[in-house]
Amino acid sequence: MFNALRPRVSSIIETNNSPETIMQKICDLLKSEVPHYDWVGFYFKNGDKQELNLGPYAGAPTDHTTIPFGKGICGQVAESNENFVVPDVKAQDNYIACSITVKAEIVVPLFVNGENIGQIDIDSNTPDPFTQEDERFLEFVNEEVAKIL
Ligand code: SME
Repeated sequence: MFNALRPRVSSIIETNNSPETIMQKICDLLKSEVPHYDWVGFYFKNGDKQELNLGPYAGAPTDHTTIPFGKGICGQVAESNENFVVPDVKAQDNYIACSITVKAEIVVPLFVNGENIGQIDIDSNTPDPFTQEDERFLEFVNEEVAKIL
């Protein structure tokens, strides 16, 4: 599945659309093609502020359009610069719930010139669905997106 999706992500990157439109198309593609991806979105650092703002996303609207660094899974990744895989969101103390249907989450940081400027965030309604294949695929997606930012 991921091997078939990689070239489709690259094709979207190569279009002449705005970064906003490109990221929206990637969110839509991932949500529709990966059965265990139920919400797909990008968060980006808000200038010099220690907070993240929601960017393009696919899935249910969320109240959490701004997340302070250190808060929730997203805020922790903003500080750790590392992937965060959560097999069971109920087992996390520092977690911001967006929907009661969500069972698991993965957040992968997005680097531009070595700087962690944002992240891709996936919520899943399936328990413990994420493997290293998801991590490698989402790292690839972020490397592709970094080219147009
Ligand atoms: N669950 C995230 C908040 C963002 S929503 O999943 C869209 C977190 O704990 O950071």
